Amino acid sequence: MENYFSIQDIDSLSNWIDEATAMKKKPLANKTLGIDKTIGLLFFNPSLRTRLSTQKAALNLGMNVIVMNFTGEGWSLEYGDGTIMDQGNSEHVKEAAQVVSQYCDVLAIRAFAKLENREEDYSEKVLKNFIKYTTIPVVNMESATGHPLQALTDAITIAEYRKTDKPKVVLSWAPHPKALPQAVANSFVEMMQRTDAHFVITHPVGFELASQITKEVPIDYNQENAFKDADFIYVKNWSSYADYGKTLEDNSWRITDEKMKLTNNAKFMHCLPVRRNVVVDDIVIDSENSIVIEQANNRTYAAQLVLKKILESK
Ligand code: CP
Repeated sequence: MENYFSIQDIDSLSNWIDEATAMKKKPLANKTLGIDKTIGLLFFNPSLRTRLSTQKAALNLGMNVIVMNFTGEGWSLEYGDGTIMDQGNSEHVKEAAQVVSQYCDVLAIRAFAKLENREEDYSEKVLKNFIKYTTIPVVNMESATGHPLQALTDAITIAEYRKTDKPKVVLSWAPHPKALPQAVANSFVEMMQRTDAHFVITHPVGFELASQITKEVPIDYNQENAFKDADFIYVKNWSSYADYGKTLEDNSWRITDEKMKLTNNAKFMHCLPVRRNVVVDDIVIDSENSIVIEQANNRTYAAQLVLKKILESK
């Protein structure tokens, strides 16, 4: 595998889930695969899970890890072709990507949507320019429009906890005080389209995700109706795609115990971080049905599987 940019880079999801499950049982089985190889992790945005799980995954494979918080520590990057660089940006991505390639064997990047310009965010300027100019494989640690490491984790977690071959999975919007990108929701939708599940999205009117991503997935604008008989409730806030970056503080979409009682004893999932008692009530996230911590644990095995496939194909 050359890069892990989106879940389209997964050739066989069922094989990947089986391999990740085996890896979780014996995480050090390939501890020499990455010896003398270095991964560079570049963060343009904050992280807890992605940073530590990717680092742990690389260490489990014997790799060296270099981490850089680019925003505030790196030079401010220019992406435009032919730009006269007499303004704020100090370094062009052409040099930056090629220079990082001298120090590392694999590069992983986190660069969120800015939510100012939809066209620019959906062009994936940062990730695609690094992929264009670097000479080493690139892993997406959450870009403007996708979070494929999270989506792989979510597929592994659902496979681990499902009680039927075709569970009902609901992706529910929930309120949040800040405008958040659509990346996690986009990749989850794409992943569920490749999974054997009854999949439904529920959100307020005006919060439709990009139709090129949701395609034929049913949308139920009535959250309580969508929750009926669900086996998994996957919760995430995202800002509007149509009215780009607009948010909505509608407390009636918060995840409560009463709503969870409408489900088929559903597992509660969230990628974290989550704002308690804004997105979800304490009683739900602290319940036995909440699998958010095991979901976060599976981040390591999703990342480790991706790195293993990259190392094996080098
Ligand atoms: N879910 C997730 O990506 O968490 P972090 O933002 O903490 O990395």
